[in-house]
Amino acid sequence: MKAREPAAKRRGIAKAAATPPLAARTLHQSLLRELQAMAAEKDSFPFALGMPAAELFPRDAIAEAVRLVLSRDPVALQYAVPFEPLKLHVVKRMAARGVACTGSQVFLTAGAQQGINLLVRLLLEPGGHAVVEDATYDGMLMALRPLACRPLTVETDLESGMHVEGVDAVLQSGARPAFVYTIPDGHNPCGVSLSVAKRARLAEIARTHEVPVIEDDAYGFLNYSGPAPPLVRAHDAQWVFTIGSFSKVLAPSLRVGWIVAPEAVVARLSILKHSSDLDVSTLAQRAVSAYLDTGAFDNHVATLRREYVARRDAMGRALEAHFPSEARYRVPAAGLFYWVELPRRVDTNDVLRVALAKERVAFVPGRAIAADDGDRVSNFMRLSFSACTPERIEAGIRRLGRVVKEALR
Ligand SMILES: Cc1ncc(COP(=O)(O)O)c(C=O)c1O
Repeated sequence: MKAREPAAKRRGIAKAAATPPLAARTLHQSLLRELQAMAAEKDSFPFALGMPAAELFPRDAIAEAVRLVLSRDPVALQYAVPFEPLKLHVVKRMAARGVACTGSQVFLTAGAQQGINLLVRLLLEPGGHAVVEDATYDGMLMALRPLACRPLTVETDLESGMHVEGVDAVLQSGARPAFVYTIPDGHNPCGVSLSVAKRARLAEIARTHEVPVIEDDAYGFLNYSGPAPPLVRAHDAQWVFTIGSFSKVLAPSLRVGWIVAPEAVVARLSILKHSSDLDVSTLAQRAVSAYLDTGAFDNHVATLRREYVARRDAMGRALEAHFPSEARYRVPAAGLFYWVELPRRVDTNDVLRVALAKERVAFVPGRAIAADDGDRVSNFMRLSFSACTPERIEAGIRRLGRVVKEALR
């Protein structure tokens, strides 16, 4: 990991950027970014990041889609309004998840992360509240920090997902959060999917208390035990925003995602987005749309699911073989992560330091993705199975198992 420049040594623009405004002051560099740099190093075991397997990107098909778009479409390199045919593809994909919407309710974004950022800016007043799980996607936490948001946290049940009655209790107590954030399938970091009953109940809670829900469906295409259940928005189209993305199943570098929102809100999102980056890359929108036109997407996703199941199961076997028996985890039915619990006395920050230095194994420690001080999840680790072959997974978990056993001694 690169050492950061000491604050006292900063000069010129670096110094100006290090002093407030609010946003720059509070947006600290995320640990996950540092682990990303390490993942690129040879001979490391990058279990830290939810990176899709690079060798499974449909490179030829994407190249062909880009070639086609550039050869036939004079607008492909120009500023342009959002590409209607791509929105209609999204409408079709959302219908398969029980979400009925029209093209005018689909707002295209540069990935799910931009969807999160825009909705936070739309809904949250500086210093306001939002309900999140106590271990959650760090990209949401990063979006909350510049607004000095004080998260109200609820726990996650590792069988059935977010503790939705906890959400109800927070709202019953009189709190008025700007929104409730949930990850319905393949939760990051907990690996769990929200039960069908809880999806309906969360929609009901949103409706009753008139509080918006943001459901982040970044992993919805990666369900391993049959078709994914209907989304939370399928239970209430008035109070639930759905965020989606092609990052995990096509390629994150394309930066194509979406928000499903009421039409009036789409217009406001558009104004917000224009203040930072104008359009989602015109070329990427049209290339993704051309790729989807070919009909190859479903087969591609089926291949991904098969491969990720093989990797998930390899990690399960390796955990069984090499981790101490006190370690607790569940096999995830969707997404890319195992969420492993060690005995309370272990702090996984300490385990990470040793694992990186001695074994070149990276993972995300619980504290790094905690919405509060992280004490409740300080003994957890998030292990991603997507970026390594089953053989590398076995070798890396064997190494990590040694470090964990040592920490328990
Ligand atoms: C829950 C969750 N939401 C959003 C994202 C960001 O996805 P995108 O590449 O579409 O911005 C990620 C990526 O890891 C994620 O895990």
